[in-house]
Amino acid sequence: MTGLPPRTTLPLPLRTDRLSLRPYAPDDAARVLDIQSRYDVIRWLGDPPHVPMAGLAEARTWIEDLNALPDNDPRCIGLAVEAVGSGVVVGTVMLTTLPRTDPAELQVGWHLHPDSTGHGYATEAARALLDAAYAHFDGADGRPLVDRVWCDMFADNEPSAAIAVRLGLRDTGIRDDPWYEGEGHIFVTTRDDWTAHREGRPVR
Ligand SMILES: CC(C)(COP(=O)(O)OP(=O)(O)OC[C@H]1O[C@@H](n2cnc3c(N)ncnc32)[C@H](O)[C@@H]1OP(=O)(O)O)[C@@H](O)C(=O)NCCC(=O)NCCS
Repeated sequence: MTGLPPRTTLPLPLRTDRLSLRPYAPDDAARVLDIQSRYDVIRWLGDPPHVPMAGLAEARTWIEDLNALPDNDPRCIGLAVEAVGSGVVVGTVMLTTLPRTDPAELQVGWHLHPDSTGHGYATEAARALLDAAYAHFDGADGRPLVDRVWCDMFADNEPSAAIAVRLGLRDTGIRDDPWYEGEGHIFVTTRDDWTAHREGRPVR
């Protein structure tokens, strides 16, 4: 099982001018540990308790679990975001289902190593992932599998909200979070909204 690439229908790797979005490999475990062991990163991800990753074995399991996402739901995926040239994994982007909710709806998420913020990498990676999901996730009957995609964050996560704004997601405000504890700042897009906003950007 270890390190098998995800069984996704996306044409991986997804490429942008500066980034390659590709499955995590076992060799990335040290970098994964470096990211996931940082409380200042993981405290923004999901409900507490936020427990920093403790060792390489956990990192390898994290990679396996991420790569297994499409096995359970072909619209779900988590990808390493690698900077072209340096080959450094700057972080992760993902599409997943929401907890306790309509399975037709997905959420998009992102996190970066602190040494890789401030370059627009998360925005560029999330844009590429949403472009590809809307272009390539079709059911056996050819109907699109992805329509509404939510983006949910803690109400005070201003860097993440700035990404959602740059992506052109619709801001539904700060409100009692339907999926996670407390208040969330919740953005959303749909296939039609995203396609209109894409304005002819090529999907690679
Ligand atoms: C949220 C998080 C990904 C934001 O990182 P980020 O670096 O601010 O986001 P981006 O990669 O899109 O970069 C945007 C920044 O790069 C700057 N930038 C520099 N060059 C750029 C370029 N070529 N293109 C776009 N932006 C560029 C932007 O101006 C912006 O900086 P600013 O906020 O000072 O204006 C990061 O803080 C993080 O991982 N936090 C912890 C986990 C987390 O909160 N995840 C989200 C949970 S909902």
